[in-house]
Amino acid sequence: MSNPRDVAVIVGSLRKGSFNRLMANALSALAPASLKLEIVELRELSMYDQDLDEKPPQPWVAFRDRIRRADALLFLTPEYNRSVPGMLKNAIDIGSRPYGKSAWNGKPGAVMSVTVGGQGAFGANHHLRQSLMYLNIPTMPQPEAYIGNAASLFDATGALSDEKMRETASRFIQAFAVWVEIHAKKS
Ligand code: FNR
Repeated sequence: MSNPRDVAVIVGSLRKGSFNRLMANALSALAPASLKLEIVELRELSMYDQDLDEKPPQPWVAFRDRIRRADALLFLTPEYNRSVPGMLKNAIDIGSRPYGKSAWNGKPGAVMSVTVGGQGAFGANHHLRQSLMYLNIPTMPQPEAYIGNAASLFDATGALSDEKMRETASRFIQAFAVWVEIHAKKS
């Protein structure tokens, strides 16, 4: 069997008990052998400042390199005030520059939004998709994944314990594996 596809997982929350991060861990465990998921940490990324692109901070360089190495991108985002958290948008901006050298370009992606709210963070999910379209990230259209009421889905150890949601998550990551094979650069 060939090497698994390297999937860079971007989680739009810095919170210790983040439900988005717990979901990323669940997707990693449910993923088929053709995918290897790894969370890319965003905490060290300072605010994007175009003046710094002449001599970018080391965490920007490491982040851009990590994204360039990836075969595919999986985004998990909460919703903050009906949009994506600022730190996630900041990471997207850092990866997109310098102009003409975007690390995101052409890599297949997918979005799952996770919130304690009842509407599945639809607003954040679609604001994020807007940026991903612009960045030429072919983003899986279906199945969509707007996950609400997240606090009821995980057990005390942080495992995804809701059986119906495990099936939904499993279908999502299986579909993503197919999407990645269609769109990943041939190696
Ligand atoms: C929120 N939250 C929230 N939820 C939602 O469904 N729609 C929203 O617009 C907002 N707005 C919002 C703003 C701010 C500043 C915070 C801190 C929170 C709730 C949020 O989605 C919820 O706390 C998620 O659980 C956060 O994701 P993690 O940290 O659990 O991954």
